[in-house]
Amino acid sequence: MDKLVIHGQQPLQGTLPVSGSKNTALPLMAATLLAKGTTTIENVPSLRDVHTFSNVLRISGADVQFDADTNRLQVDASRINYPEAPYELVKKMRASFYMLGALVGRCGRARVSMPGGCAWGPRPVDLHIQGMKAFGANIELDEGYVVATTPSGRLEGGSFRLEPSSVGATINLLLGAVTARGGSRIENAAMEPDVVAFGEALKTMGAQIDGLGTRTIEIQGVDALDAISFRNTPDRIELGTFMIAAAIAGKPGDPIRITEGDHEHLGHAFKEAFAETGAHVEYEPDVVTVAAPDTLNPVSITTGVYPGFPTDLQAQWTVLLACADGTATVTDTIYDDRFKHIPELQRLGVEVSVKGNTATVHGGGPIKGAKVMSTDLRASVSLVLAGMIAEGDTHVLRIYHLDRGYEDLQQKLSEAGVAIRREEYDEFAEPEPQQTVGAE
Ligand code: UD1
Repeated sequence: MDKLVIHGQQPLQGTLPVSGSKNTALPLMAATLLAKGTTTIENVPSLRDVHTFSNVLRISGADVQFDADTNRLQVDASRINYPEAPYELVKKMRASFYMLGALVGRCGRARVSMPGGCAWGPRPVDLHIQGMKAFGANIELDEGYVVATTPSGRLEGGSFRLEPSSVGATINLLLGAVTARGGSRIENAAMEPDVVAFGEALKTMGAQIDGLGTRTIEIQGVDALDAISFRNTPDRIELGTFMIAAAIAGKPGDPIRITEGDHEHLGHAFKEAFAETGAHVEYEPDVVTVAAPDTLNPVSITTGVYPGFPTDLQAQWTVLLACADGTATVTDTIYDDRFKHIPELQRLGVEVSVKGNTATVHGGGPIKGAKVMSTDLRASVSLVLAGMIAEGDTHVLRIYHLDRGYEDLQQKLSEAGVAIRREEYDEFAEPEPQQTVGAE
């Protein structure tokens, strides 16, 4: 297994480039199944999740070619003859459940494994299933698989309200509805930029969709979509992560340039909280410049649906608060128990405690390198950030989580001055008994 070893307290400097969005690339990849032909997507990050989802598409019969050097992904979906997403792949990545909408949209039927557990809390798919039923699918559960069929070989369309609003369910329902026989309506739909970019791509393919970026999306089904070329959006969570990195590990007065991101996708809550920390930030169309302040102010945040504070940035924010001068809180209203990183941060000396869905951080204390364990994608990157400001060496174990969602992170940070290296280690190795010199 691989780990990252970070020698802390080396100032971050220069430029950090942002890759293509993972959470937009995955639904775009699912959308390729709706067109009989070859669809090209540019700016697809080379990530474990992208490789996993490529394999999911291949199972259904698609020919997927990915060039990691150019970040171009091509899917030939001329022949989709096996409408199934197997457990072995879906269990690796929940987003594989997008195959439900994509396969029903393309074939009128699907057999997709239920995703199962997740590193934090229950993450149900009940809304995806109820929504599909509301749009005319018959759904049965068979040996852990959701089996969807349509009486006429096509969804009829319908109306469904998401409660709570869900990114994944909005995407799945859009995938199914765009080729339905009739019209559909999704109420309390997700407004996240990932959903909007995905919906815009569907429209370019010929889908008829109104209301993207609002709470109500209306879809008029069409007979077929066209294979096209489009460009994936930049990763807003990576942009936010790098802004936090610059605020905590940059040298005051020496701004870091974060390039190729789109700050419009950050949402106002993150931007407002970031400004309140005292970090100096300038937004230009393709560049966000951040200079660390002499002292960071403690700023409490509560996660919410877009344009609220992203739950995918709360673990990183916790590390920012560890560097701030005072006490503040992180409350997650999307996932009540997304706090697996907290015991690991405590191992580094961060003064933080959790009660209910709120973490309270007493900032300003010393942070010291140690061995810590990655538990999920965003938790892992928070440990890397903590390692960057810790005294001595921090070993972040099990970084396969990071590889799911951050393209070339080690290389990007290392080019920006961070002393970081990747090493193999034996997960099960135990320390040898030690002899104390001079002991009887
Ligand atoms: C997506 C993102 C993930 C992010 C999350 C919230 C991808 C691949 N993943 O996950 O990084 O953290 O949005 O912004 O884009 N819910 C139900 N029933 C359902 C579906 C969801 O109750 O059927 C609940 C969830 O438990 C959660 C809330 O709805 O409390 C929002 O989850 P959702 O937006 O669906 O998250 P994902 O799409 O899984």
